[in-house]
Amino acid sequence: MFYEPKKGIPFKVDPFKALIFPRPIGWISTIDKNGITNLAPYSYFNAIADEPPQVMFCSNGSSSHNKYKDSLNNILTIKEFVVNFSTIETKKQMNTTSKNFKPNEDEFYFSKLKKKNAKLVKAPMVKDSPVNLECKLIKTIKLKSDSKKISTMIIGEVIGIHIKNKYIIKNRVDSVSMQYIARMGYSEYTKVSSKFKLKR
Ligand SMILES: Cc1cc2nc3c(=O)[nH]c(=O)nc-3n(C[C@H](O)[C@H](O)[C@H](O)COP(=O)(O)O)c2cc1C
Repeated sequence: MFYEPKKGIPFKVDPFKALIFPRPIGWISTIDKNGITNLAPYSYFNAIADEPPQVMFCSNGSSSHNKYKDSLNNILTIKEFVVNFSTIETKKQMNTTSKNFKPNEDEFYFSKLKKKNAKLVKAPMVKDSPVNLECKLIKTIKLKSDSKKISTMIIGEVIGIHIKNKYIIKNRVDSVSMQYIARMGYSEYTKVSSKFKLKR
């Protein structure tokens, strides 16, 4: 099978996102200028550098209320955000926070997730996330778009890192025990449940 996406997709459902997996989910929390908090999952997300540590996520399309999705709107105003991680325990809440809520509706309230104050940024953190990354906006990049769908990459510097102590064993992070979930294609997810070593 070979196809050129521009010429049409030989499937009923575009399989692109089912080919690049698992995609980590950045569960992005932000705050707007009136103090209303926001939380949404983004799987076009990853770490992209480490000196200094930097992450990116991409906001594709608009919300039904505004030109941009709320997370991007808030970040363009406040210039800060927090990356949280969903686990097998919080998968339902993560899904709830992906609903198209209005800008003045707080996803923390609707998903019944507890907030925790960040140390260096105004956006709140998800209390039940094993790790929280406090980020300052570095820049946004407008991505190529063949449609009316606006795609924007948001790059942030990680200026503060929280790791729950129970996941630190002998001075190393015990990543498998965090039970992160990640995105496959369609409505499929996976749970990180094993690892192996390969020395370079
Ligand atoms: C697991 C998951 C991953 C998602 N990844 C993205 C993504 O990478 N980019 C995007 O624009 N929307 C993504 N979405 C959809 C957004 O979460 C959704 O549009 C949400 O309402 C945006 O919220 P906001 O307007 O509060 O930012 C994803 C949804 C789910 C459930």
